[in-house]
Amino acid sequence: MAHFNVKLVSYISRMKNSPLILDTKPVSYFIGEGALSHSSKVLENFTRFIILFDENVRTHCLPILREKVPAVAMSDVICIESGENKKNLDQAVYIWNELTRLNVDRDALIINLGGGVITDIGGFAAATFKRGIQFVNFPTTVLGMVDAAIGGKTGIDFEHFKNQVGLFVDPVSVIIDPIFLDTLEDKQWQSGFAEILKYGLIIDRDLWRILYGKKYREIGDLNKVIIKAARDKIDIVKHDFKEKGIRKNLNFGHTIGHAFESHFLLSGHPVTHGQAIAAGMICEAWLSCQLFEFDPSQLDEIVEMIDANFQRLDVNESHIPQLLNLMRQDKKVRHGKLNFSLLKKIGKALHNVEVLPSLVVDSIKYYINT
Ligand code: GLY
Repeated sequence: MAHFNVKLVSYISRMKNSPLILDTKPVSYFIGEGALSHSSKVLENFTRFIILFDENVRTHCLPILREKVPAVAMSDVICIESGENKKNLDQAVYIWNELTRLNVDRDALIINLGGGVITDIGGFAAATFKRGIQFVNFPTTVLGMVDAAIGGKTGIDFEHFKNQVGLFVDPVSVIIDPIFLDTLEDKQWQSGFAEILKYGLIIDRDLWRILYGKKYREIGDLNKVIIKAARDKIDIVKHDFKEKGIRKNLNFGHTIGHAFESHFLLSGHPVTHGQAIAAGMICEAWLSCQLFEFDPSQLDEIVEMIDANFQRLDVNESHIPQLLNLMRQDKKVRHGKLNFSLLKKIGKALHNVEVLPSLVVDSIKYYINT
């Protein structure tokens, strides 16, 4: 059963052809086709809106928001530069300056319109300005819709460390409308798909069954898949907002995956987050096989599915020492130990599994040699 805490999330409505509406206090979620049109329910409690986005979103998504949500059409806007490398203190200062220039007070609502960078930095800037202004997330990417916009992680990168400064703070609401995905580049679509696969593996075998055998551009009922994946994340963070336990399961594929991501960034040939996490999931599924009674045929299934959707990364054995060093710098390392979230079986994960570096090395060799 994927949704282990359905009772926690009070279910408001799901009429045919309307979005799923969940009121999880303090956050309300509107998920699925038509969600934008329903967002007026949230916005009617506010009289002033400031929309934050980047230059890509300005071109592709802002017109859609303005058309579908007339209440915000004439709002003040703040546009920042796009890119993970722009999720920094300078841009946070820029947002605070703009909020000051626009005389924004605590009665206003900040609308974060964009992917993970916008919801991270926008939530952070809002939560710290004048000791906290309320904000709402309108994710426009797959990754944002099923992950970054949900769960209250906000922050910026600092001194080369990802998400080094930030806070857990919930938005008032998250409005997830797949309408924006028509504007998404293929590469970004593929990147988000890795996170959707992850929910199938860690918590939602039913979702895995829906996806298995398909390519990311071939998903028939995209609306259903986005709703299921977002719902999985909501269930997890509702249980464990501050990541003391079950939320750590979301790190499956990420301990080795983040090392791949940093390695390729440092080498000047960056890969997307999803490409890196997909590779990390192969390594960590292999680790699951070594440490638990994880069925090898399920490992084959995972490898087959990931290979059908992601090109293998150009890694060789000479990269392994740097990959291990990068893992040791990760926030998930405690007291120098490499900690993993691994799989017991497809649809069930567990966290705080300590793995010897030699076995981690073998898992990367498995990735390279199979
Ligand atoms: N993206 C992982 C988390 O929200 O905990």
